[in-house]
Amino acid sequence: MRTNLPVTATEFTFAERDTLVSVTDTKGRITYCNPAFVHVSGFAHEELLGQPHNLIRHPDMPPEAFRDLWDTIARGLPWTGLVKNRRKNGDFYWVQANVTPLRDGAQVTGYLSVRTLPTRAQVQAAETLYNAMRAEAEAGRVIHVLRHGTVLRQDLRGRIARLLMPSTPTPRLMLTQALTVALVLLPGAASPWWRRKCARWPHAPRRRHATSSNSSPNQPSAWPLAPVRRAKRANAWPMRWPPCNA
Ligand SMILES: Cc1cc2nc3c(=O)[nH]c(=O)nc-3n(C[C@H](O)[C@H](O)[C@H](O)COP(=O)(O)O)c2cc1C
Repeated sequence: MRTNLPVTATEFTFAERDTLVSVTDTKGRITYCNPAFVHVSGFAHEELLGQPHNLIRHPDMPPEAFRDLWDTIARGLPWTGLVKNRRKNGDFYWVQANVTPLRDGAQVTGYLSVRTLPTRAQVQAAETLYNAMRAEAEAGRVIHVLRHGTVLRQDLRGRIARLLMPSTPTPRLMLTQALTVALVLLPGAASPWWRRKCARWPHAPRRRHATSSNSSPNQPSAWPLAPVRRAKRANAWPMRWPPCNA
């Protein structure tokens, strides 16, 4: 990990319309950068070309951010995240970086990074997150990690949140199904008395030998009805759900 020093507490901002572009080879060496990138970095164009991209690394950036960046683009996927960079004079600037692999056919030939000005809210959130990540790394107790630019908590709270997250339908579906099974089937299996009560359900269609004279006032007369003896028992309460017609 390269540590570029000194750093100052002075932030350098750039216009919202500016787009900072750089292209690297597959090792992360800069092969192209546009005038806006050069201007904001504070380096001369010649000082940047051919240099590894960590030339502008700011020491406040947690290594986890770049691990995730390289892991993501190595899989051929684009990566988006907030990056705090160091200018040549030690000042800093925040960018929202979008890094994507460049291909010649199936072959990845390099990477393109397009950076725009993040909002203050994004910067604040990234500062809080990166401070936490550095503190966790120092304490040897990593909780926040990145996966393809998305923050994940590795603790129990994070696992439960992922299980219930709308973006992860499979675990959520499994949880819903498990709860459904537990609520509907298990009480029946565990409680034979429930089935016995169920057999008394007055509307059960398997009671085929009924006559309309046996009908209760609440039942439509067309329904199959049980003989009187059984129909009396059928009015026993409480009635249970589901009706036992199976
Ligand atoms: C296309 C591309 C753009 C990158 N842009 C930056 C950048 O703006 N700032 C930065 O610190 N690292 C950037 N990196 C990541 C660096 O290559 C490097 O991994 C990072 O600075 C960490 O350096 P270290 O290995 O010395 O810790 C970029 C990498 C690629 C492939």
